[in-house]
Amino acid sequence: MNILGIETSCDETSCAVVADGRKILSSVVSSQIPIHRKYSGVVPELASRAHIENVNAVLDEALDKAGIRDIAGGISAIAYTRGPGLAGSLLVGQITAQTLSSLYRLPLIDINHIEGHLYAPLLEFGALKPPYLALVVSGGHTELIVVNDFGNYTYLGGTRDDAAGEAFDKVAKLLGLGYPGGPVIDVLAKKGDPKAVRFPRPLLPGTWEFSFSGLKTAVVNHVAGKKLSRGAIPGICASFQAAVVDTLAEKTFAAAGRYGLKTIVVGGGVAANSSLRTAFTARGKREKRSVFLPPLDLCTDNAAMVACTGYYRFKRGRVEGGLQRIEPGMKLKNWNEKNT
Ligand code: KG4
Ligand code: ZN
Repeated sequence: MNILGIETSCDETSCAVVADGRKILSSVVSSQIPIHRKYSGVVPELASRAHIENVNAVLDEALDKAGIRDIAGGISAIAYTRGPGLAGSLLVGQITAQTLSSLYRLPLIDINHIEGHLYAPLLEFGALKPPYLALVVSGGHTELIVVNDFGNYTYLGGTRDDAAGEAFDKVAKLLGLGYPGGPVIDVLAKKGDPKAVRFPRPLLPGTWEFSFSGLKTAVVNHVAGKKLSRGAIPGICASFQAAVVDTLAEKTFAAAGRYGLKTIVVGGGVAANSSLRTAFTARGKREKRSVFLPPLDLCTDNAAMVACTGYYRFKRGRVEGGLQRIEPGMKLKNWNEKNT
């Protein structure tokens, strides 16, 4: 069964065709980073305009690469990201999906973007199946979620303020390193000493929540009034990155222990961070927990994860009415379909 996925929640226009939930037949991602770079962040109006310009070409390429000439014959259902995300950007994907659905009389599946990140590792690791603990760390989210089964989640907690990726982006902007901040800090940190500056680890004991704005302020205070030499930047990057990674690892592994989960999955753009990948892999070995880190193109936003999530929902007979009404920050104990 082939599902067409469409993702336009932020600054990537993406379409993909996935067979039986696991096999990527095509995955096309058109990134808008060059458009937003000069503003050091995503400009919503520019993002939605770029989606409008790109979506048809991205769709055609995804269908071509999957060898699908006839949508009605080659596609069984269409899954698209309904939220959370930028309203104008989401609308472009939604209208595209709705148009194709009514034109070709195909079922339409609305997907929550975070749920998509929970499923992305399934596309790489054939043996992976729930239950597992998922950490979703991106520019907009830092969430710890137990995937009890397909469509059945326990939401443990999210960030109270800045998401981890947002903190990377803001610190990079502060240091004049450009956008997006995560990849550039990742590279510079390799040349720096993670102990150069002792930044705080915001652990928020007794909760599964995160808070990165204080850490960002600690970097602001550290550089305030100083004329930074170029040589100081890698040490600041390495120290900031170490504080983020230590915090994420500490809380994730504590949650895995508390809920007796042997498998940990990390998704979202920050899962591309090399130090995070090394730290999670090493700690997983020490604690005898399997850690699944998707390849970089499945960490960042992509439509293949949306198609994969759509497949499992379709199989459960749930088409419209998924998780999109549940926004990060809502204090839900049981984050599953019964709540929608
Ligand atoms: O998942 P994603 O593509 O989009 C959102 O849904 O936000 O994540 C983008 C975020 C950005 O904040 C970017 O700086 C961060 O992921 N990121 C990284 C790395 N690569 C991307 N953060 C740390 N290290 C990286 N290597
Ligand atoms: Zn994302």
